[in-house]
Amino acid sequence: MIRLDSVNKEYKKGGFFSKSTFRALNNISLHIEDGEHVGIIGESGAGKTTLGKILSLIEPPSSGSVFFSSEKITKNNIKQKRKEIGVVFQDPYTSFDPKQTMLHSLLETEQSKENIFKQCKQLNIKESLLYKYPNTLSGGELQRISIARAILSNPKYLLFDEATSALDVSTQAKIVNMLCDINNKKQYTYIFITHDLKLAAFISDRVYVLYDGYIVEETDDINNPLHPYTKMLTETTNFKKSKQSKKNINNGCFFYDTCPYKKDICKNSMPKLNKTDNKKSIRCFLYD
Ligand SMILES: Nc1ncnc2c1ncn2[C@@H]1O[C@H](COP(=O)(O)OP(=O)(O)OP(=O)(O)O)[C@@H](O)[C@H]1O
Ligand code: SF4
Ligand SMILES: [Mg+2]
Repeated sequence: MIRLDSVNKEYKKGGFFSKSTFRALNNISLHIEDGEHVGIIGESGAGKTTLGKILSLIEPPSSGSVFFSSEKITKNNIKQKRKEIGVVFQDPYTSFDPKQTMLHSLLETEQSKENIFKQCKQLNIKESLLYKYPNTLSGGELQRISIARAILSNPKYLLFDEATSALDVSTQAKIVNMLCDINNKKQYTYIFITHDLKLAAFISDRVYVLYDGYIVEETDDINNPLHPYTKMLTETTNFKKSKQSKKNINNGCFFYDTCPYKKDICKNSMPKLNKTDNKKSIRCFLYD
């Protein structure tokens, strides 16, 4: 189980000497149970990758805590705990050394060639691809090898950050089928970061919706969302670049300007994230 408790992430804004900061994640508390498939969705800039980096222990939070199997992540255990999570990023071309064959890259994760060949065979990756360089492979082939690499370290959790976004639709479908096959052989805990709502709905048991670094909805039924913002997202086919709302300078609800259900209270107060049942939470005064 992975748990985040009141996690904030701030980045420096401006030049080297600047003291001003920008908050990319606000008070994020969430949990991912063993064997669960959890989606993280939101528009561009919502904080999905930042959250992914904290969940995969690539970056530490500015404040708050991360737990893996109830054990708090500290400087002393982070290196060892990082091995428990495999990560697959959007652009496989940048995640492999262009001067190394695929086999050489994989040998950095797993020293036994026999195990590498065995794993690739299980994933229907032709052995001949392993003797090639990244720039001679297609995006789909490379992404399959990225997934093989993530699995080779024998992780408990697998995190995919827009892992299929750069691929054409039929290759995306093949990769998703591959993930389903992998999961049939050994049950992984999957975390899918995506702006593709259909994919999130297909592959996830539960979804967190992010907006400007806040969780605005947690739901086990993304096809029937409750938050007005999530409803709008589900009606927009490709919301990646369609950021409709802007920060409310009165510290009210982020969706105030656009929301058809707004009330007076929404203008100057930010609603809290309220649990409405075991697998649903909503940040909206309509559900207070
Ligand atoms: N290293 C950094 N330094 C400063 N700001 C950052 C850094 N990384 C991310 N940000 C900012 O934090 C916010 C969230 O970025 P993030 O990459 O997490 O968004 P995202 O939801 O993954 O977006 P996308 O869908 O475009 O990948 C953005 O405003 C981004 O500019
Ligand atoms: S809090 Fe108010 S403005 Fe915000 S989504 Fe709910 S009803 Fe709309
Ligand atoms: Mg991202």
